[in-house]
Amino acid sequence: MTTTCSTSTADAASVLREAMVRELREWGAIRSEPVEQAALTVPRHLFAPGEPIEAAYEPNKPLVVKRDEQGLALSSLSATHIQVVMLEQARPEPGMRVPEVGSGGYNAVLIAEMVGESGTVVSLDIDAEIVERARDCLKAAGYERVIVARGDAEYGYADGAPWDRIIVTAGAWDIPPAWIEQLAPGGRIVVPLRMRGLTRSVVLEPDGDHLVSTDYHLCGFVPMQGAGRHDQRLIPLAGGPEGPEVGLRVEEEQRLDVAGMRKALCAPAVQRWSGVDFDHVDELDFFIGMSAPVFGVLAARVSAVDSGLVDPAAKRGAPTLIRGASFAYRTARPVEGTERYETGVIAHGPEAVAVADEYVELLRRWDRDFRHRRPAARIEVFPAATPTSDLPKGRLIEKAHSRVVVSWPGTREGLLRHTGITHREGT
Ligand SMILES: C[S@@+](CC[C@H](N)C(=O)[O-])C[C@H]1O[C@@H](n2cnc3c(N)ncnc32)[C@H](O)[C@@H]1O
Repeated sequence: MTTTCSTSTADAASVLREAMVRELREWGAIRSEPVEQAALTVPRHLFAPGEPIEAAYEPNKPLVVKRDEQGLALSSLSATHIQVVMLEQARPEPGMRVPEVGSGGYNAVLIAEMVGESGTVVSLDIDAEIVERARDCLKAAGYERVIVARGDAEYGYADGAPWDRIIVTAGAWDIPPAWIEQLAPGGRIVVPLRMRGLTRSVVLEPDGDHLVSTDYHLCGFVPMQGAGRHDQRLIPLAGGPEGPEVGLRVEEEQRLDVAGMRKALCAPAVQRWSGVDFDHVDELDFFIGMSAPVFGVLAARVSAVDSGLVDPAAKRGAPTLIRGASFAYRTARPVEGTERYETGVIAHGPEAVAVADEYVELLRRWDRDFRHRRPAARIEVFPAATPTSDLPKGRLIEKAHSRVVVSWPGTREGLLRHTGITHREGT
């Protein structure tokens, strides 16, 4: 009886797995044979006990494993889509030694399939419960050769270093020195790195005294805990006793005219249309985020959208350019008679017209210079002690251990002008 049951589950899983892989190939998320083979081989449902088997094989569905008291996700089985994208970025090869930050079991096993029996995979998690869970799942799936360890990623995992690849599956705000120290020559770090509130899975490789990106991709992950934890500030712009209805997510260093912006939100808005197609939104948003002198992400509850206080774009978080008490955020509208959408901006405040025009100018610059370029930006991570005079031109983002510079090589005007230290902005 049991045999019949588990055989039919295995058969159903195999059919679902093939369909998932087919879809991920069609989306362009799986691009290589080793990643495809790993995804076809590993029984993902064994890492999602208690979930319907169909949910385990939905290509773009993260499954939350643990929440905090406020209901915020602390751990999840990440969506297969982003896992395969990051494996394509990392390209672990047979025999390689790879630690994964953040355990669940499934991603570690995909890596184990790629590095083979001669390779080493360590999965590191700060949470004892998650470590236990991952070990149980790995045992059930027969992958006990994956080592699961408890520890804070801030200090890396020295036992077994140097590592050929370091794959991080929790949202990081900084690059701890331990990761660089423990990286083998010619190694590669793949990390969801938050820059000015926007997270991209960045591929970083050593280049002399610093790290330089070779690729990046939109992603979202549960935040890093432990010594590297770095919370974002949510500045309420409107709301009542139940909490903010409209808020601005900003990095901690920026100082803002909050009272002015609150007043501005209630005053009539200025709207501008750019003529720029609304597509490749993650690329466009990253450009705006790194180019706006002062930047935040406007977020709103449905009630604020329904009441007409903000545009529906704010429901998903709208990149926002800020100047004093004025701010502008992006929106979109359908282009009549076509399937296209056009990008526009909505601006509030005493300088609404000026910030709207500045935003539209940035949209047009992205359209002209970067729409067809991949990867368009260069992300460089320098040690915190690097003097400003030794840094390349670009957007400087200060972290605790590092100074991150994002630049846009090859613009018609040359590199963006050197914009100084972010924490001085907005003052
Ligand atoms: C998205 S989950 C990992 C998903 C997993 N790789 C998978 O196969 O689906 C992120 C994990 O990172 C862990 N984490 C957060 N901060 C950490 C830290 N500082 N050190 C190690 N693990 C951490 C969390 O406990 C959580 O389990």
